Amino acid sequence: MLHTNLSVNENNHLTIAGADTVSLAREYGTPLMVLDEERIKSNMLAYVSAMKKHFGDNATPFYASKAFSCKYLYRLASETGMGIDIVSSGELYTAKAAGFDLSLSCFHGNNKTDADIVYALENGVGHFVVDNLSELDRIDEIAAEMGKTPSVLLRLSPGIDPHTFAAVVTGSVDCKFGIAIETSQAEEALRYALTKKNISVDGIHAHIGSQIFDVEPFCDEAKIMVGFLSDMKKKLCFDCKILNLGGGFGVKYVEGQPNINVESFISEIAKYVKNEVEKCGISYPKIYMEPGRSIVADTCLTLYTVGGTKEIPGFKNYVSVDGGMSDNPRYALYGSEYTVCLASRMADEKSFTCTVAGRCCESGDLIQENVLLPKPNRGDILAVLVTGAYNYSMASNYNRIPRPAVVAVTKDGVKTVIRRESFEDIIKNDL
Ligand SMILES: Cc1ncc(COP(=O)(O)O)c(C=O)c1O
Repeated sequence: MLHTNLSVNENNHLTIAGADTVSLAREYGTPLMVLDEERIKSNMLAYVSAMKKHFGDNATPFYASKAFSCKYLYRLASETGMGIDIVSSGELYTAKAAGFDLSLSCFHGNNKTDADIVYALENGVGHFVVDNLSELDRIDEIAAEMGKTPSVLLRLSPGIDPHTFAAVVTGSVDCKFGIAIETSQAEEALRYALTKKNISVDGIHAHIGSQIFDVEPFCDEAKIMVGFLSDMKKKLCFDCKILNLGGGFGVKYVEGQPNINVESFISEIAKYVKNEVEKCGISYPKIYMEPGRSIVADTCLTLYTVGGTKEIPGFKNYVSVDGGMSDNPRYALYGSEYTVCLASRMADEKSFTCTVAGRCCESGDLIQENVLLPKPNRGDILAVLVTGAYNYSMASNYNRIPRPAVVAVTKDGVKTVIRRESFEDIIKNDL
C-alpha cells in the first residue's frame, strides 16, 4: 500500500492503523476523516529529534498549523516538543484553547490586522514574522502603546524556484510574501527595522514553497540566507539570533513519488548551513523550520459513501460521493493528485475508469480524474488517501454542507477529535 499504516484485512476492507475503515464509516457516518495518532506523533518526533541532532539542541521545528488547525493537533505538537506557526488570530485562539504555550509560536501572514497584532501581543506570541514595512511600523507602534517589545523575524524572499507547482511557490522575487533580497529591499528593510525602538529584530525567515522532493532548493535557500546574514553583519553589524528556513518537505500522494527521509534531509541541510556559517565567519543562529504537510498529510484519509455511477458512452464515467470540494477543495484549486480506492471491496478487480465527483453544485467539484476502481455500487465506501494537510483546514460550508467529523485511531481505541458539524452549527450566525 501507499504508506505503511495502510493495509487490507480479511474482509477485503481498507484499514488505517489497524482500524477497519468500513466499520468506521458505519459507526461515525461519512464523509469521515480518519487520523492515525501514532503516525502524527512519529512524524512530529522525527523533526524534533533530527533538528536537535543535526542543528543543535536549541533548534526547533514549528508545526505549520495552516495544514490542519485544531485543538487536538496543537495538543500533540505541545506533547512532542514542537513550536507552532500560526497565520491568524483564529489559529492563535485555537492553539490557546488547546493550552499551547504561545511563547513557542511564530505569527505569520502578509496582512496582520491591528486586531491581530493586539491579540498576539496580549497573548504573548513568540515571534512576529513580518512581511512588509507597513506591518513593521504598526507592530512597533502598537507595541509601544502596550509597553511590549516583541521579537520579530523579517520574512525574506530568497528568489528560489523549487520547481514545484506554481500556486505553492512562495520564495520567488515576485511572490506576494516577503521582502526580496535580490532587489536590495531586504537590506533596506533590515536597516529600517533596526531603527525601531519597540521591537527586537531577532532573525530572518524564508519559506520557498511546498511539496519539494529534492534537498537542493533547501541548501540553495540556506546559502542565500546565510550569505545575506554575512553581508548584514559587515554592513549593519547585525547579529542574527534565529534563522527560520520554513517548511515545504514533499509528501507521497501517489505511487511513483518518493517518501522523504526527514532525518537524512535535515542532516544534509544542517551540513550545508554549518559549512556556510563557518565560511562566512558569523555566529551560529538558532535554527527553526516549519513543516506542515509532512507532519499531517500521510496520517489521514477521507471516507465517503458512494451515491452512484454515471456512464456517458464514448466520454467518461462518474462516481458521485457524499462530500467533495466542501471537505477537499485541492483538486478544484490546484489539480492535486490523490490515490483513491474502494475501501469496501479492496480485492475486487479494477475495471472501471472514472472521475470521482463531489456532491456540490459546481461542475469543477471533482476529487480526482482517471481513477481505476472496481465498479462501485451505491453504498460502497470510497477512500481518498493522504488527506491530512490543507483539506479540513480549507473545508467550507458551500451548499450548506456540514464539515465532516474527524476521528483519530489511537493506541487506546478510536476517538472523535472534531465533531461533525450540525445544521444548527451552520445557521448559528444567521440572524
Ligand atoms: C511560512 C510558511 N511556513 C511553512 C509552511 C508549511 O509548508 P508545508 O506544509 O509545505 O510544509 C507554509 C505553507 O504555506 C508557509 O507559508
